[in-house]
Amino acid sequence: MGTTKGKKYKKIAVLTSGGDAPGMNACIRAVTRGAMDRGAEVLGIKRGYTGLFTKNFIELNSRTVANTIQRGGTILESSRCEEMRTPEGRKIAAGILQDLGVDGLVVIGGNGSYRGAAALSKETKTRVVGIPGTIDNDIYGTDYTVGFDTAINTALEAIDRIRDTADAFERVFFIEVMGRKSGFIALEVGIAGGAEEILIPEIHIEPEQLAMTLKQSFDKGKRSSIVVIAEGNESGHTIQIAQYIQYRLNLDCRVCVLGHLQRGGTPTARDRVLGSRLGTAAVEGLFNGKNGHAVGEVGGEIVFTSLIESAENTKSLDVLSLDAKRVLSL
Ligand code: F6P
Repeated sequence: MGTTKGKKYKKIAVLTSGGDAPGMNACIRAVTRGAMDRGAEVLGIKRGYTGLFTKNFIELNSRTVANTIQRGGTILESSRCEEMRTPEGRKIAAGILQDLGVDGLVVIGGNGSYRGAAALSKETKTRVVGIPGTIDNDIYGTDYTVGFDTAINTALEAIDRIRDTADAFERVFFIEVMGRKSGFIALEVGIAGGAEEILIPEIHIEPEQLAMTLKQSFDKGKRSSIVVIAEGNESGHTIQIAQYIQYRLNLDCRVCVLGHLQRGGTPTARDRVLGSRLGTAAVEGLFNGKNGHAVGEVGGEIVFTSLIESAENTKSLDVLSLDAKRVLSL
């Protein structure tokens, strides 16, 4: 039995919820090994919160999580669960955990998963700690989320390839990236990929303004242009924007939606290390009495933020780097 400053844990449970992200397996592995090191049993809940209701569990131990750190996706699988959105559902979930003898739950996921975890910890006796796992990097209380680094490197590789063909045909490519309502992925890959323009939800750019930027680029002698568009941008649908530019500037335009390929693949070293660090810290926090908190890394330091605060606040984007991009893409 694991003991700490007053809190004793016999069994902890872990789940991954919402959009899967590369590096989640590193988290699961670290949570499992960290808890076992403290003498606690570990229960893996499959398919996110849904697995709680369907009683889909697996026993985790140091051996079952071996050889997983390099794998994309999540060995626990994931889902988005409607039942967890209601107090009645959360009461049932807490009852199931109690019957299983689980006295601490680690939730690895994004904002939606945090909301469910926060409510579960507030309304019931379940002790919960969250770990930020999403490619979107949109979680308040951590500089980076697990999965973001892999996603941007995957998207960047695709953009580099597209640049080759764009240049060969003197085309404008509109590359749509994920990120839900935030522009972290778009901004980072846009700068790293030398995009001529980046459209993010945080800043509104009129299609005509974009047309002028692209015209100037071609007037300066550029052979091709890349426009990175965040899926949640406010300027319009990617296809409509591309059609507008094609018509307005009489340029050969193509659209490429990177979609879910950004979510898969082998996690980068950074995501493996971040996942391992946050997984270890989450267990340590739980054993040290943390409840209703999410672990994160800010300025290289491990920090805990309340799950509610984290879910309700918007992490700000460094829009200044968008200005820097204008100079860099001259
Ligand atoms: O939150 C991760 C994410 O990949 C977002 O970037 C995207 O908007 C969403 O999930 C896609 O969700 P789904 O896999 O359900 O289509």
